[in-house]
This record gives sequence, C-alpha cells and structure tokens, in this order.
Amino acid sequence: MRAEDNKLLTQVGPGSPMGSFMREYWLPAYMTSEVEADGAPLRVKLLGEKLIAFKTKEGRYALMDHICPHRCASLFFGRNEEEGIRCVYHGWKFDIDGQCIDMPSEPPETDFKNKIRVKAYPCVERGGMVWAYMGTRETPPPLPLLNANRMPENNRNIWASLRECNWLQGLEGDIDTSHFGFLHAGGATLKQADSRNTQIMLTDKAPKYEVLDREYGTMYGAYRPAEGDNVLWRVAQYLFPFWTMSPGSLMEEQLIARAWVPIDDGNVMFYHFGKKGAGPSNNKIKGSKIHGLGGEVKLKPHDPTSWLGRFRLESNAENEYLIDRDVQQSKSYSGIDTGHIQDTMVTETMGVISDRTKEHLGTSDKMVSQTRRRIIKAVKHYTETGETPKSVNDPLVYHKVTSGMMNLPKEADWLAEAEIKTDAMIKHYGLELKREELNT
Ligand code: FES
Ligand SMILES: [Fe+2]
Repeated sequence: MRAEDNKLLTQVGPGSPMGSFMREYWLPAYMTSEVEADGAPLRVKLLGEKLIAFKTKEGRYALMDHICPHRCASLFFGRNEEEGIRCVYHGWKFDIDGQCIDMPSEPPETDFKNKIRVKAYPCVERGGMVWAYMGTRETPPPLPLLNANRMPENNRNIWASLRECNWLQGLEGDIDTSHFGFLHAGGATLKQADSRNTQIMLTDKAPKYEVLDREYGTMYGAYRPAEGDNVLWRVAQYLFPFWTMSPGSLMEEQLIARAWVPIDDGNVMFYHFGKKGAGPSNNKIKGSKIHGLGGEVKLKPHDPTSWLGRFRLESNAENEYLIDRDVQQSKSYSGIDTGHIQDTMVTETMGVISDRTKEHLGTSDKMVSQTRRRIIKAVKHYTETGETPKSVNDPLVYHKVTSGMMNLPKEADWLAEAEIKTDAMIKHYGLELKREELNT
C-alpha cells in the first residue's frame, strides 16, 4: 500500500478526509449506562475532539465541547443542572443544544448570551446506546437501521473496550478471516470443536473466498467442502464507515454488529451490539471448549480523569497481555486468554498506526485489501464531490445485512441463500420494520 493511502485511511481528526467522511454518519458515542440524570459529566473523546457527555433530569442526552466559550475553562467541572450545564468559573449556562441560556456575570440588559454557543452535537438514544451526529448538516440523516441495535431491552447486549491503536487495525482484525484457525484455535483438537462446522474450519485452514463490493461496503464468503456434496460457507460483512459483522453461528440466528469508533488517530472504542446470552456479555465471554478462546474479559475501573479512561482492558501491552508461555507451548497456541485479548494483542502490537507499506498480502487477505480499496474510493469520491454512500441517507441499506454460516449443497446460489437466511434471521428476532421506523 502507498504511504499516502495509509494516511488517508488512518487519519481521522477534524478536517481530515476520513474524519469528515465518518462525520456524515451517526456515531455510537457512549452508553446510556455511563451517565446518570443530573450526574457528573463523562469525558468522551471522538474523532480527535475532547467532549463531555451528560444526561439531564428529564432524560435527555448531551455531547458537547468541553471548553467553555467564555474563557475556556473545562465544562467537565461544570454543574449538570436543569436541562443544561453551568460553567463554574463565571456561571454561564448552556442547554444541550449548546445555546448559552444564562450569563449571570453580564448586566441583565445585554443580549450577549443569545450570541454565544458551545459546540454541541445532536444525540439520540436507541437500544442502550447514545448516538451522536458530528456532521455539518442542519438536519441530521436518519439513524441506521442496524438490527443488532434494535433489540428489546430484555434481549440485548452491548459491551465495549478501548483498543490502543488506530481504528482500521481493529476493524481489519474482524475481516481477517484466516487468523481464526491459528491465533484463536491453533492449539485446538477436533474433539474440542463445539460443532461439526467448527471441525470443518479446523481441518481446512486455507479456504477459498469470494469477496464482493456491496452498496453498504464489502462482503466475503469463505467456502470449504463439507459432508457429502455440501459446502460450508462463512459470510462476513464490512459496512461503511466502521462496522463489521463476523460469522459465529448459523446465519439465520446470527445477530451482531461491531463498531470501531475512532477516539483519535491512535485509539479506538470498540462496541459490540448483539443479543443476550450469545457470545460476549457484559465483558464476559462464555466458556469455549477451545482452550484460551473463552473466559472473562476483565476491565480496569473507569478513570474519569482521563480522556482514555473508559473500558480499559486489564490485559494490555504493559503486562504483555498476561501471556503464559507454558500454556502457549502445551495448549493454546497464543498463551493469551480470550479471543478478544488475542485480537487486541495482534492489532495493538502492529504499532499505533500500522505501516502498511511494509505488508505482504496474500490471497487469504483479499477481504482486507478489497475493503481498503472500497474505503479509499468512497472517501476520495466524497472529498471530490461531497457525495456519500447511500447508507448515510437511507437507513434501510443496513437492515438486510447479516453474517454467519451456511451449510449448502454444492450447486446452491450462496448469495440467494444468504438473502433467504437474512430474512429468516429478521423474522426469528421479530425485527421486521415498523412503520414508525420508516418515517424517521
Ligand atoms: S470560563 Fe466558563 S463561564 Fe467563564
Ligand atoms: Fe480474531
């Protein structure tokens, strides 16, 4: 890859082509569980901006610049009071739209307060997540209809973790399919496989691939011979601008969306959206028969003083991800506990921003290289013309997309089957679109 393309893909700060592109989309900003009504503000860094988040007494969510527009004190230390935040330096108060609504340090006859705003971003809550729109439009586009974020409260699951590297490294880990049989399951025996499909994957570690450009991003189908004349397909997705859907279970049951939301060029917040009781839950990953893949992902306590204080992992670069060299030799290939930490280790140790000019990509890396090309093309087109992919304006683009496994007869049309199974998944979870969602 050319150095200039790597720069285009990885730099996300204000004014950068990639950062501006991402700002056209709604971004998962923080979880509803991270703030309390009238409680302390939360430090949130997003696309290189230091922001504060808070929830008002009436339950509205806010996200705004932490610098007070008066004399630049930090609003993090402000008082969350009556549907706004009051800077404690001279008492200026701002509502959640950023408008100054009280200026007690100025004479009452002045209208100075009407001219003052702090930069604030519109927020919408859905499914336990507060979404923010940081783009330039007067009226934000609709929220994307991602099925994994449309689950009812009693059957949903969101969890998060900080990754201390560029956003693209985290995302590419999700679409680098061939690593499963090595990093995660390199030490596994066929007996440890939890299903016949996993056994097939463990036996054939160099499957064939089809990689396709889609309206929403890219998709791959990896296929291996299965019983008789059947073929095992594993289908995964990349969706603009930073979403993935990985294959874990059968396609008609798989409900997942993984977001890699850039904090700045060197840090990314990962959010997992899914259903309750499947896969990771509250930062616990259910036991797996494959040694080292299951276990608990432990987090450090939240550090409210830091812009990087949310969802920090206990196993990290400083303690070498708690690698156990004996376990590595005898049982688990990596010697590192949980698939999530294994992924964290490989992606963080590439460097804060991987130097992709040094890579040598093979045929098994086709999804990674095609996805990069797809993003570069979309971002360049956006920079030149202002046109975004359809998914910005049409929330339906995300609705009929899912990932997962399919065991199909050799002659079956895998794309047509994937559509049928996606419909089955939507029906299975009762996620057919409601009229009110179409009107948003
Ligand atoms: S610096 Fe915030 S009110 Fe003066
Ligand atoms: Fe992985």
